[in-house]
Amino acid sequence: MKLDDEAAAMALGKQISHILRPGDKIALTGTLGAGKTTLTRGILRGLGFEEDVPSPTFAIVQQYEPPEVRLPIAHVDFYRIEDTEEIQELGLDDILIDGVIVAEWPDRMPDSFWRDALQITLEIQNDDTRQLTWDAGPAWEDRWPII
Ligand SMILES: Nc1ncnc2c1ncn2[C@@H]1O[C@H](COP(=O)(O)OP(=O)(O)O)[C@@H](O)[C@H]1O
Ligand SMILES: [Mg+2]
Repeated sequence: MKLDDEAAAMALGKQISHILRPGDKIALTGTLGAGKTTLTRGILRGLGFEEDVPSPTFAIVQQYEPPEVRLPIAHVDFYRIEDTEEIQELGLDDILIDGVIVAEWPDRMPDSFWRDALQITLEIQNDDTRQLTWDAGPAWEDRWPII
């Protein structure tokens, strides 16, 4: 899938927001500037969040709860995660009971964590558009790809 610009990434994020269910994991892979946070902004906007979305690089986890969003969601940036103990402290399993996780730099987590996730990779093209590829677990079979 090709994303021409930031608006296209936001629009896809909004579409993704409509198919989300509690327990979902979305892994966003791509270099700095590929559009991981932009896509997440679209998802949050689609869930009803109206304000600016900070990048969770320093907080690692940014949580959003109803009523500001339709579904509890944690925006996670694993970039600064160094050991597995730190990962356990994030309480991700609790979030997944009734909410969803959207994560940047998912390669910091064991592959097993992403087994049933929607794994999206964004690549910057020479013309500054983004090429989006995906690998979707069985949980996504009846709802992905959207278009
Ligand atoms: N097709 C596109 N999708 C997403 N972002 C794009 C696109 N084209 C250009 N951009 C720009 O690239 C930057 C992506 O930044 P960001 O979403 O923070 O990336 P990341 O979180 O992957 O580091 C933004 O400045 C955005 O405006
Ligand atoms: Mg980012």
